[in-house]
Amino acid sequence: MNPQPLVFVSGTLPGNSVEQLFGCFNVVRGESGIRSAEFAACRERVEALVALVTDRIDEALLATLPRLRIVANVAVGVDNIDLAACARRGIVVTNTPDVLTEATADLAFGLLLSAARRIAEGDRLMRAGGFSGWTPTFMLGTRVHGMTLGILGLGRIGQAVARRARGFGMHVLYTQRTRLSEEMERALGAAFVPALDEMLARADAVSIHCPLTQETRHLFSRERLARMKPGSVLVNTARGPIVDEAALADALAKGPLAAAGLDVYEEEPRVHPALLTRENVVLAPHIGSADRASREAMAGMAIANVMRFLSGEPPVSQVTMGR
Ligand code: DGY
Repeated sequence: MNPQPLVFVSGTLPGNSVEQLFGCFNVVRGESGIRSAEFAACRERVEALVALVTDRIDEALLATLPRLRIVANVAVGVDNIDLAACARRGIVVTNTPDVLTEATADLAFGLLLSAARRIAEGDRLMRAGGFSGWTPTFMLGTRVHGMTLGILGLGRIGQAVARRARGFGMHVLYTQRTRLSEEMERALGAAFVPALDEMLARADAVSIHCPLTQETRHLFSRERLARMKPGSVLVNTARGPIVDEAALADALAKGPLAAAGLDVYEEEPRVHPALLTRENVVLAPHIGSADRASREAMAGMAIANVMRFLSGEPPVSQVTMGR
């Protein structure tokens, strides 16, 4: 009799979806993912890997996993995985789209409000006993209602941000490689701008919702940040390396940016020291999808992908190269 396929589950997942694997498969869990002793002990037998964004799945790692057939990422972003290397080895990659869309859009909006209206800064001030009473000029921020919001990447999450923006009476601009249909633009109330630089020059706030690729790495370079509208706000809930953090710190110190809200960082969990000292940046610890329901749904989707694949059915959300 063939032994049951071995599924390695990286970290602890919320909810109880992992339990579905027991009985059907041989399951090994490792708290510190692919760096754990549990993983090292079973790597040659792993057929399915339930991976986290903190697991770097590259050529060198794949070379040590001779039986691997599927990587089920518990994330929508797959920049932690070398897709080309997986494709060369015939390894299927899946992700968890849709279930985290609204949660991430909520956080992007929260960061925008918090950065523009100085909420986190105000909280720090209160706790430090720095509030000596209302004055007309105290802690003036940037008006959110009615602002022009530029969205880089009007995919699922970008669209969810655009829907929220309507409730705030915002004018929404977007830019991406492929323009949406007129019908979708109308439904979202979003106007296409062909060039990123033009959008940056016009937008009072910019929210980043594109994947991290070779083309988007440091897309927000020093030069590009300098082209943003004076007094504008930058929000990043996508991936840290899309923004040059050192340049961002300078743009927050010397302009043109008034504020920024970040959930992701160039070298997580490290945050650039120059950002840590700035009052006008709100820093969240990569919690875009971290409402309980969304995280449980992400875990459930990753486990469903593994179960279906190992049972000979197509996974629910397979990632194709060049997505
Ligand atoms: C994702 O899904 O890509 C997030 O960054 C992790 O929640």
